Amino acid sequence: MPYSVTIKSSGHRFTVEDDESVLDAALRQGVILPYGCRNGACGSCMGTVATGTVAYPHGMPPALNDEDLDAQRALFCQARPTSDLEIAVREVDAARDIEVKTLPCRVEKLEHLAHDVIRIYLRLPESERMQFLAGQYIEVLIRDHEPRAFSIANAPQDDAFIELHIRYVEGGLFTDQVFHSMKEKTMWRIRGPLGTFFLREDSDRPVILVGGGTGFAPIKGILEHAFATGFDKPMHLYWGVRARRDLYLDELPRQWSREHGNFSYTPVLSEPMPGDDWSGDTGYVTNAVIKRYPDLSGHDVYMSGPPVMVQAGHDLFTRHGLDSTRFFSDAFEYAAVAESIKGLQQD
Ligand code: FES
Repeated sequence: MPYSVTIKSSGHRFTVEDDESVLDAALRQGVILPYGCRNGACGSCMGTVATGTVAYPHGMPPALNDEDLDAQRALFCQARPTSDLEIAVREVDAARDIEVKTLPCRVEKLEHLAHDVIRIYLRLPESERMQFLAGQYIEVLIRDHEPRAFSIANAPQDDAFIELHIRYVEGGLFTDQVFHSMKEKTMWRIRGPLGTFFLREDSDRPVILVGGGTGFAPIKGILEHAFATGFDKPMHLYWGVRARRDLYLDELPRQWSREHGNFSYTPVLSEPMPGDDWSGDTGYVTNAVIKRYPDLSGHDVYMSGPPVMVQAGHDLFTRHGLDSTRFFSDAFEYAAVAESIKGLQQD
């Protein structure tokens, strides 16, 4: 039977199904608890059971000793509730709370989403997980070359894989290999999570998200997280691309707007192609935002895309009243990571 768990300090509450760990249930419902290995070995997920009881049906985890048990400490990646619980545990709400790791991973699946966009699912070793906040990015480490930075496109409640959207860059050594010769099961080394592009959930302001091309990727992660946690502020996504064929997951935000009353979606084409049959917004995506929201003084804006576009967006939006501290982007951080970043998240 499902049990209810309440976190003492925040009052956050979630439900744990049969044979589900406290951690799995928390992440599934968008409550981010700290973790590392997810198999009982590292101790990162430790907290205290203030009221109620837990059991370890798959054996006592190695990182838990008798002293911990006496002190009512539990490893939430392994613990199963046997009653309703009140627990004390640190919740993760800022990038600084998360350990940056370098890990091997396997390219599990490759999927062509558009003529120049590939979706890759990376699988981490069984004993390792990478905890991240929706919207953060990783670096792919390549011998003798600068690392390549890519946003994580999925939300942390589903971290068995790391999803990336990679756009083909003309003349780009790395993307050329990814598009033309890389096979599933290829091994990579990655480092992450990195960046501070994540949803500020403590803000009361309505949210505007602006993605350029594959800049949609981290926004997808942020929105999936927001839907999982029941984030209830209005959210409006603007996705700017050249032509209709570049809206590589167009049906997904359309579906979200049917399912979530607080979400709306506006795709914007800068150069519609003959035959696109487009009656929606055209031109620069940033101008489309201003047309609808000429006064941004009460909003939070999240923007992901090529650095030039993000810079232009920042300048335009602040001229329209946006508080500069309420503008969030990872584009500049990206640019600092590696010169070769040029073009990686562009449309
Ligand atoms: S996450 Fe490592 S022990 Fe729970």
